[in-house]
Amino acid sequence: MDVGVNPFPITFAVHFLGITAIAMVLVWTIHYLGGLAWNSPDKSLLFNVHPVLMLIGLVVIGGEAIISYKSFPLEKEVKKVIHLVLHAIALVLGIVGIYAVFLFHNEKHIANLYSFHSWIGIAAIVLYGVQWIYGFVMFMYPGGDPALRRVSLPWHILFGLLVYMMVVAAAILGFLEKMTFLEESGLAKFGSEAYLVNFTSVVTVLFAALVVFCAITKPPAPAFDDYAPI
Ligand code: HEM
Repeated sequence: MDVGVNPFPITFAVHFLGITAIAMVLVWTIHYLGGLAWNSPDKSLLFNVHPVLMLIGLVVIGGEAIISYKSFPLEKEVKKVIHLVLHAIALVLGIVGIYAVFLFHNEKHIANLYSFHSWIGIAAIVLYGVQWIYGFVMFMYPGGDPALRRVSLPWHILFGLLVYMMVVAAAILGFLEKMTFLEESGLAKFGSEAYLVNFTSVVTVLFAALVVFCAITKPPAPAFDDYAPI
């Protein structure tokens, strides 16, 4: 599906919302939760690495990768490389972010993979990896047969957007779950920290909605040949 609207101006709103979401998660983890550390006697600082890397990596850089064909006025081949490199960075940050929370659970003797958040999160990162490898092999190297590429492209777009929605659902559930833990331990439901975290979810959802909007729109007239099938 391609809606006839020029997405280019909307990509600026996407960048703005992405930077805002990153600033909010950093203020939360550094100012309210005491900071980030891989090796510290205070293991909660290791947990804090998880939301920061997941939001910066899979959500924001992954979203920027999705809209890279619409946000850069560059040659199509250059945009293809930007697309796959940004997705690779997102995937690596996501893997390190999930590793951090497994490490945190193991050091604190907390069970692994018991929540819906963790199940949808694991499914999302596995499918993200599968999508990246298929995209690389089909569209980059060695590259599929042209007829197969043409058939694969709409599936790549559809599957990519579905996986991205799973990523965003995982992030939102993660914020919600952590807020529930903190509120059970006495955090004020109408306090500044609760508002900050809940509004980080709001900004994340707006960011993701605009990413999807940019992905399914293209200028009404064929102003650029960048939008032609690969
Ligand atoms: C795309 C984003 C995310 C993915 C793919 C993801 C994935 C995961 C996975 C796989 C686990 C299980 C670790 C284990 O069982 O040892 C986990 C745990 C956890 N995550 Fe996330 N996460 C994401 C974002 C977030 C965010 C933004 C938060 C916000 C604080 C968060 C909070 C938590 C919490 C509290 C746990 C421990 C409880 C549990 O296992 O459900 N996550 N995450």
